[in-house]
Amino acid sequence: MKRNSRMRSAILLFLAVFAAGAQADEGDPRQYVEEARGIAQEFAAELKGELEKAIEEEGASRAIGVCGEAAPDIGARLAGETGWAFGRTALRVRNPRNAPDSRERAVMTSFQQQHAEGIELQGMERIGIVEEGGLRYVHYMKPIPTQQVCLTCHGGDVKGPIQEALAKRYPADAATGFQEGEMRGAFTFIKPLEGR
Ligand code: HEC
Repeated sequence: MKRNSRMRSAILLFLAVFAAGAQADEGDPRQYVEEARGIAQEFAAELKGELEKAIEEEGASRAIGVCGEAAPDIGARLAGETGWAFGRTALRVRNPRNAPDSRERAVMTSFQQQHAEGIELQGMERIGIVEEGGLRYVHYMKPIPTQQVCLTCHGGDVKGPIQEALAKRYPADAATGFQEGEMRGAFTFIKPLEGR
């Protein structure tokens, strides 16, 4: 988590530089797209698997820890294997620690606009280079669609013990009321560019 918030404040600092177009010619971010895309797929598939397993074995109200704890666990393991740092964010968050910075918010707003115009979320992604103190990072984002299994805890009709557990743990929860197919949030991945 500490790492996550550090990553976030780092991205925030990079914003001005990024927006000013200080992107140098070397390190074209497009070369990292395939890698980031593959990891996003793996992350999403593992998380969905963990959620389904936990809901089946323990019931949804006990599985609420999974979306909160399995995600960072999967992220930490993938980080060790790949060198990327991982986060999830959303325009409406359950945990305020996942709140987007202004670049993340702008990217997700644009994903949502494209989706409203009829473009599939599945094909969307954004990649760019951000910079801090002479170090450069590649930043990748990809929308996370709401699936059937997510509705138990993010749908319009969350109730009973799940609703109670969520209200207790996340008093400022804004991450309900989603419908299947809507954008639930986005992956946000960052990786230092070596030797720069
Ligand atoms: C069993 C309940 C549960 C289910 C099912 C569930 N989530 Fe979550 N979700 C949570 C909780 C709890 C959090 C807050 C995690 C934290 O504390 O960081 C969360 C957070 C998130 C976040 C991070 C942004 C935020 O709102 O804080 C995203 C993105 C997300 N969920 C997507 C999904 C998707 C996509 C699915 C379906 C594949 C899903 N969730 C299914 C409980 C659930």
